[in-house]
Amino acid sequence: MTSTILTGIITVSDRASQGHYEDLGGPALKEAAQGHGWEVAAEVIVPDDLERIQQAVLALEAQGCGLILTTGGTGIAERDVTPEALRGIMRVEIPGFGEVMRMRSLASTPNAILSRCLAAVVGRSLVIALPGKPAGAVECLGYVKDAIPHSVKLARRVPTSC
Ligand code: MTE
Repeated sequence: MTSTILTGIITVSDRASQGHYEDLGGPALKEAAQGHGWEVAAEVIVPDDLERIQQAVLALEAQGCGLILTTGGTGIAERDVTPEALRGIMRVEIPGFGEVMRMRSLASTPNAILSRCLAAVVGRSLVIALPGKPAGAVECLGYVKDAIPHSVKLARRVPTSC
């Protein structure tokens, strides 16, 4: 894709949303996205709350973001509901993204198996749910970045040759 990808970033964290903790994941993803040549249109922080996550994703989709990155809430703690939030509003899940992110991350940490990171199409946006640790989120994005331009085109229903 030659045109830039309009990107929205959502940090999912109870503590960051309450100001008890500085959001490091959102800024780290912003820097990574800009490094890939994408335009960051919005950055949002929401608590680990299913409806708030869904509202944030739908708002960025309505704003025209072809790519929405979330960070946090993919694990197995009681408050980790990012996958459930996305599955409640998605049209399709794209399992390959989660498979690759987990598989490649295992080379860095065995705890990567705990992340239920995933990608899905919500409306006309590609949404990628990344782990909460800033370095892990950036690392996972790097593992799948080459598939993003074509996936965004398909999500936005731009005619393609395949
Ligand atoms: N993936 C990578 N690449 N690097 C990491 O440090 N941390 C793991 C995992 N995936 C990690 C990773 C850990 S410790 C957890 S608990 C899960 O992501 C879920 O994190 P989350 O609940 O903050 O999304």
